[in-house]
Amino acid sequence: MKLRRWVSIATVAVATVAVLNTVPATAGKPYDPTKQTLGALGLRHGLQIGTAVDMAALNNTGNPQYRRITAAEFASVTAENAMKWESLEPTRGKYNWGPADQLVDFAKRNKQSVRGHVLVWHNQLPTWLTDGVANGSISKQELRELLRKHITTVVSRYKGKVWQWDVVNEAVSDPWDNPPTLHYKGFWAQHLGPGYLADAFRWARAADPKALLFYNDYNIEAFGSGNPADDKTQFVYDMVRGLRAQGVPIDGVGSQGHLGTQYGNYNTFQVIEALEKFTALGVATAFTEVDVRSQLTDGVQAGNSEEINPRLQASAANFSVLMKACLAVRSCLSYTVWGFSDRHSWVPGWFDDPPEGLATIYDENYQAKLAYHEIKSDLILAGPPYVLPRITPKPHR
Ligand code: G3I
Repeated sequence: MKLRRWVSIATVAVATVAVLNTVPATAGKPYDPTKQTLGALGLRHGLQIGTAVDMAALNNTGNPQYRRITAAEFASVTAENAMKWESLEPTRGKYNWGPADQLVDFAKRNKQSVRGHVLVWHNQLPTWLTDGVANGSISKQELRELLRKHITTVVSRYKGKVWQWDVVNEAVSDPWDNPPTLHYKGFWAQHLGPGYLADAFRWARAADPKALLFYNDYNIEAFGSGNPADDKTQFVYDMVRGLRAQGVPIDGVGSQGHLGTQYGNYNTFQVIEALEKFTALGVATAFTEVDVRSQLTDGVQAGNSEEINPRLQASAANFSVLMKACLAVRSCLSYTVWGFSDRHSWVPGWFDDPPEGLATIYDENYQAKLAYHEIKSDLILAGPPYVLPRITPKPHR
């Protein structure tokens, strides 16, 4: 990205503030963008700001703030767990559509888009399926047919109601896996071979001609060595290019954005470069599961502000790097946080040794954190008259 363009963004941003004050006042009060929600500010760019939704928290009447913020602050929602195979078909042939239907209805009532998560993943599969494959009662042919049936059934049910589908999630290994050389990993690659990816996209397309079909993964925020043997972003890039060359209907790449302040992470230009390289393959991009966790040292757990503040600032800076990169690249269609409150975050349950947390944009008492204000300022300062409307690809046939 040409630095000169950034300089022009900065100068225009200053002009923006001046312009903002000329925006018509509502009800006598001058227009104050800081009073706007993240969702509303994102829509000025055609950018959908979203959150993952924990259905138990949403339905907890003793916790009205969760439902209020989910409805008001965000333009897009993703089911944190309700649309996963183990949730939808816990018993073979018996579907539990309730929670997923409820989220889709909730989104409709609140004029929100829905990101469908997730059709094909190696985690959270129903035990009847994994046991059947393990004990041989489900053959490879039957497994492939079950996958086709699952994708067709789920995508058909939410046809026209789901904007983006994570068709395949986390199909690629990591450098710390064995063998370390990057490869297709997990249940589906093991039992069906990597060809299942192309099949999955084609089955999803057949069931919904309009939904945008995404490949979703973590640790692909920026390129590393450029060698697909150890650079996961390069491996995914080559994979998507290959799928496109085969005419597979893949419309987008979702970068989860699970970051940690203890790691080096990336600067905005490195992330822009990655988004632009994927865009050049003819696909859209999105940040799909953003959170920025920190180690909960004894000092942090003891409430020592000198330990807590640097972590909150580092977390905010990383949320902002991804937001600025997304704003700068018009193929970036959505920016979803993986839960908005530290009270409902997967991080402490997963990263417990050493303990990690403080990963979201609101604290445990639903008070907006520095991260919330930083991404809000990114949305405002990149605002009128310098808005980059999104470029949405036509769904690939
Ligand atoms: O539903 C059961 C409940 O009946 C039981 O009482 C409870 C106690 O163990 O577990 C509940 O299931 C939990 C499920 O979340 C629903 O809350 C599982 O144990 C727990 O492992 C599962 O964690 C989810 C995790 O995916 C599973 O891999 C997290 O909430 C969810 O945030 C996380 O999300 C993933 C994305 O889908 C893909 N990318 C990474 C991301 C973080 O791991």
